[in-house]
Amino acid sequence: MWLLRGCTSKYVASSFGRRVLTTYHVLGRSRCNIAAFMPEAAGFEGVSGRAALRELSVSNSDSFWAAVARHRLSWITPFHTVQDCDLSRGKIKWFEGGKLNVSVNCLDRHVHTCPERVALIWERDERGSEMKYTYRELMEMTCQLGNLLRRHGVKKGDCVTIYMPTCPLAVASMLACARIGAAHNVVFAGFSADALAERIRDAQSSTVITVNQGVRGGKVTELKKTVDTAVQSCPTVKQVFVAMRTETPVTMTARDIAMDEYVFSYHDGDVFGCVADIGWITGHSYVVYGPLANGATTVLFESTPIYPDPGRYWDMVERLKINQFYGAPTAIRLLLKYGDKWVNKYDRSTLKTLGSVGEPINTEAWEWYHRVVGGGRCPVVDTWWQTETGGICIAPRPSDPDAEIVPGMAMRPFFGIKPVLMDTEGEVLTSNNISGALCMAQPWPGMARTIHNNHQRFIDTYFQPYPGYFFTGDGAYRSEEGYYQITGRLDDVINVSGHRIGTAEIEDVVNQCPAVAESAVIGYAHNIKGQGVYVFVVLKKGVDIQEADLSRQLNSMVSEKIAKYACPDFIQFAKRLPKTRSGKIMRRVLRKVVESDLEGLGDLSTLDDPAAVQEIIQGHEKLL
Ligand code: PRX
Repeated sequence: MWLLRGCTSKYVASSFGRRVLTTYHVLGRSRCNIAAFMPEAAGFEGVSGRAALRELSVSNSDSFWAAVARHRLSWITPFHTVQDCDLSRGKIKWFEGGKLNVSVNCLDRHVHTCPERVALIWERDERGSEMKYTYRELMEMTCQLGNLLRRHGVKKGDCVTIYMPTCPLAVASMLACARIGAAHNVVFAGFSADALAERIRDAQSSTVITVNQGVRGGKVTELKKTVDTAVQSCPTVKQVFVAMRTETPVTMTARDIAMDEYVFSYHDGDVFGCVADIGWITGHSYVVYGPLANGATTVLFESTPIYPDPGRYWDMVERLKINQFYGAPTAIRLLLKYGDKWVNKYDRSTLKTLGSVGEPINTEAWEWYHRVVGGGRCPVVDTWWQTETGGICIAPRPSDPDAEIVPGMAMRPFFGIKPVLMDTEGEVLTSNNISGALCMAQPWPGMARTIHNNHQRFIDTYFQPYPGYFFTGDGAYRSEEGYYQITGRLDDVINVSGHRIGTAEIEDVVNQCPAVAESAVIGYAHNIKGQGVYVFVVLKKGVDIQEADLSRQLNSMVSEKIAKYACPDFIQFAKRLPKTRSGKIMRRVLRKVVESDLEGLGDLSTLDDPAAVQEIIQGHEKLL
């Protein structure tokens, strides 16, 4: 474990870290969770079955959330008002008068009942060197770190920047901040010095926590050096805590404070494997706060899906006996390219549920995930949500564990969630078999309250477009049966010859072509059709196909499955697509390339690999 030099294990008094937890609904475990928040005392005596409970969660949402909050959280001071929200003004207030500490809810509650249960399994980059940490150990580490921060002047209301790889000390740092009432600003450890500096300045942090070096996919990154560069343009930073991830010493300055390392004991436990980085919302809600608040064992995945080889995830599933695996379609598409043998090598019999998040999962990837990874026996749950929603809002099985699942559909609203579809005039669409702008008609506790330092932007972005509703920015289709399918960001809708179509729909068909590993569809100005269809295609490994042949195949597939008007006008082969570090295709960049507006590429700081953009630009120039 990470020992904080010179700090005691004295318990840090829980000060008021006023955060509202996202209710945790571990994929595939909702049966026991719902049973746990349905005791008679909750006032649901007459409600039988989860479908009825979901109904009640929307029709009588105040009593539902009040019961959940009372029964599943420990409060320092109980709340007197469940909510005081007004979506028409962007006013979001939950559990008024109540005080709780999220760190106490994630740690102390479980330490009292099951201290030796494994809280974290750290799947280190070096395959086979995983480490386990119990709730007791995690609480000790958190308290030590909380004490250390307080001793160095960090107080309630401060914002601490955490620039660390996904590791136990990063989790303890988040929980320590929450424990002492400080906010945390977790910056993905792959960001450049400039991107880090911008985020430190935005948060006005005086304290940064980092490690000497990061290790990911076998590559060493100089995190401390990046922090050194970043803080030169951050006058607010007074201190940088430095832990040792590797043995390589780093230059310390007067501003730096060292932390040391020793090893925790190993225990068994149930295992929730969300492979997101903690620098993203999925890591916050489904690696750290959600699992820990519910006493689960959570995996911290430090590596990449293809290091040291494309079997990494499934080897980890076998070794750590993972029960729920939660990942992103981009990784699934990447692994699919390498073939089934990397999956079949490993025992995946512990898997119960496979989750997907972050972007629409195309049919081919869904089927491969289900058939090959899950051996056809694990449900694939395509979960829709956003940073702004805090947690999953639409998912296939929120209430019925045996409910039908349609591939590629997020399906049904979660407890307390009331989605609506809007037409372009701002009217609610009431029928089924219809598409519209996805909005939420009522508030829920996990939703965002504001944008830091810019509340007006919060109101303008989310509440002004459809007054009285929270606007997600996504489009969705509601099927005849009432199931939801996310069609992508609304600005990813193109209009070809008067037909509006989501680019995701065309991509889904293109990705079904046996030669194609991945694609991105962009609209471009076309003087006859209004917009034309420009397709970027990444071929599967080892595939050799001429553009004319591929074009023939794609044309026939798209016209058969969608319509002739949606057929590609241009096909550009690419070795890879420009992606954010969380794996989303940067369509904005592709759009600018297609428009030949290279001046307008904009902020590339979240880009995973800048070389991908250069390749795309060159490929585009060749095509013209
Ligand atoms: O467009 C939707 C897409 O990702 C957006 C949210 O991105 P972010 O805030 O980074 O959060 C990612 C993790 C929740 C959404 O507005 N998205 C997310 N999940 C899905 C999805 N699109 C389709 N299907 C999903 N399951």
